[in-house]
Amino acid sequence: MVVRPPLGDVSGLPIVGPFAENWANVQKFQAGEGDVLIDTYPKSGTTWISEIVDLILQNGDKKKAQRGAIFERVPFLEFAVPKIPTGTEVLNAIEPPRVIKSHLSVQTLPNTFWEKNCKVIYVARNAKDVAVSYYHFNRMALGHPDPGTWDEFLNNFMEGNVAFGRWSTHVKGWWKMRQQTDMLYLFYEDMLEDPKREIQKVIKFLGKDLSDDVLEKICLQTSFKAMKENPKTNYTAIPSTIMDQSVSPFMRKGICGDWKNHFTVSQSERLDEYYQKEMSGTDLSFRFLV
Ligand code: A3P
Repeated sequence: MVVRPPLGDVSGLPIVGPFAENWANVQKFQAGEGDVLIDTYPKSGTTWISEIVDLILQNGDKKKAQRGAIFERVPFLEFAVPKIPTGTEVLNAIEPPRVIKSHLSVQTLPNTFWEKNCKVIYVARNAKDVAVSYYHFNRMALGHPDPGTWDEFLNNFMEGNVAFGRWSTHVKGWWKMRQQTDMLYLFYEDMLEDPKREIQKVIKFLGKDLSDDVLEKICLQTSFKAMKENPKTNYTAIPSTIMDQSVSPFMRKGICGDWKNHFTVSQSERLDEYYQKEMSGTDLSFRFLV
């Protein structure tokens, strides 16, 4: 039987247990000139934007994007699982400029990223679809505590008693930060609605100039279907003792509005109430359907 570690804590942020034990190495990490940070609350389209960014930096060259799994091309800063190289070990072996993935809140991200003026791409997704996606992810990702029933998980999610804490604190913290730093704040729902338009924004943000033909290719290669079938992006390279895809696939549905298949009317009302309360006083807003 797999023993799921309890959540750890970093400066008040709940985090995957072994990630917290490795925190000293994350604190010591040095960002480099030109490093690009991809930050998200979990299940908001991290893998999708990572593949898009890598393909843009490779000028749309599909073969180059096949050089490694997505977690090797875009290493996960705070990742730590016993017997596997940690995120910082993988990153320290690569020369900057690198593309770095993190789920850290704006308050817990090491200062080195600000000191080096790294570009940041943040992707946010509506709370209802994130909750559903995170529930299924917690069922299959064995480094997380057992999510229990959907209702139990939803309560924990709203209370911020899940890895990386409260969704609302995360999305709001980074929304505020976008005014002070070189940052692109994207929405999963916008990416679904018009991937070409959103990828174009990323190209511009990264200072690249790619032809329409290349843009078209990147769109195709980063479609849900292509990424679900691609062993470099669908996480099938991760052993089933860490992610058991027979329980739920990593590339699950890739849509907006799957929450309708999970939330009861009363759960939806509870989340609406939470959303209204948490989002009052900010001009940040989400679409729950596209
Ligand atoms: P679902 O569980 O709702 O299907 P992350 O990479 O941050 O862990 O996010 C995973 C979520 O993004 C999953 O959502 C996954 O299916 C979705 N996803 C991954 N690649 C996608 C793509 N190319 N297009 C749309 N959704 C994608």
